[in-house]
Amino acid sequence: MTGGTGFIGSHTVVELQQAGYQVVIVDDLSNSKVDVIDAIEKITGIRPEFANFDLSDRAKTLAFFLKNSDVKAVIHFAAFKAVGESVTKPLEYYRNNVNSLLNILESMKLSGVSSLVFSSSCTVYGQPKQLPVTESTPRLPAESPYGNTKAINEDIIRDFCHAEPSIKGLALRYFNPIGAHPSALIGESPVGVPNNLVPYITQTAAGLRKELSIFGNDYNTPDGTPIRDYIDVVDLAKAHVVAIKRLLEGKNKANYEFFNIGTGRGLSVLELVNAFMKSTGVNLPYKIVGRRAGDIEKIWADTSLANNELGWKAVVPIEETLLNAWKWEKNVRNLK
Ligand code: UD1
Repeated sequence: MTGGTGFIGSHTVVELQQAGYQVVIVDDLSNSKVDVIDAIEKITGIRPEFANFDLSDRAKTLAFFLKNSDVKAVIHFAAFKAVGESVTKPLEYYRNNVNSLLNILESMKLSGVSSLVFSSSCTVYGQPKQLPVTESTPRLPAESPYGNTKAINEDIIRDFCHAEPSIKGLALRYFNPIGAHPSALIGESPVGVPNNLVPYITQTAAGLRKELSIFGNDYNTPDGTPIRDYIDVVDLAKAHVVAIKRLLEGKNKANYEFFNIGTGRGLSVLELVNAFMKSTGVNLPYKIVGRRAGDIEKIWADTSLANNELGWKAVVPIEETLLNAWKWEKNVRNLK
């Protein structure tokens, strides 16, 4: 697994190990900490193997695959993911996110690994005309270089799996992943001021930030704030377990498949803020400010395909997800 010490990766290691899979993490720790491995071991009782290198290094990537000849499948999470930063540093984003995928695919071919699960994003849909979005909703031009690397990488996998019929690819298009493991031992640890809503909320609740700024309440939604499909990170992690199983058991219906991974329910920013206050009992100061550039108005998933084909469904209630995010933040900050 690449990016296994990151937010979604670490939760997926836990679910895979608990389902009986053996995991090797590759991560260069550019946006995560090695302590995550101790936390994973604490939760599962199993220490995952760990290799620290940069997957955009072609020779190192191939050497890793040739050395680890017992690897049966790859889940590729490792990527740069800050939308705003990708606008100011496009070459870094293309070089890192695209090259690492190219190196992984080439190495899979040369070492005989045939299954790949890829982290994609609902960002590939842009602002869809019809909601909810299904997998046949057309993709729209990306709003940012980050979003474009997701679209490009999906296409690269599709074309490669077409050219190499022995290789199977499956992309999961995540909606908005939030929350933390119920143990509060792993969670999301953004560096610096968080860009994403839930880390900003929990840091505000912990007293690190004065108040939450809500970016616009003049959207065409019931309360005027934007709507997203917030998916619990443990539910999301479990989608990877069923995806890997599908590929390893040869249950896939095409060499390249893609699925929406969300809850199917849209929540506005205000609804999420109110759910946080209700489930944690913590008052959250907030103010309404102007819209954030590049934000879309509303999106949520039709998850029928994942429900029916993968036999996967999001089950964690939003209150529990937000409580887990809060427990994690308190643990990180040593709060009671
Ligand atoms: C963003 C990315 C998306 C990426 C995802 C990763 C953009 C345009 N999209 O999604 O491509 O896959 O992160 O998780 O950046 N909000 C506030 N105040 C805040 C922070 C956020 O009001 O301080 C609002 C935003 O306006 C938005 C919602 O909260 O309506 C969710 O924002 P965020 O968590 O940043 O996710 P997205 O922008 O949906």
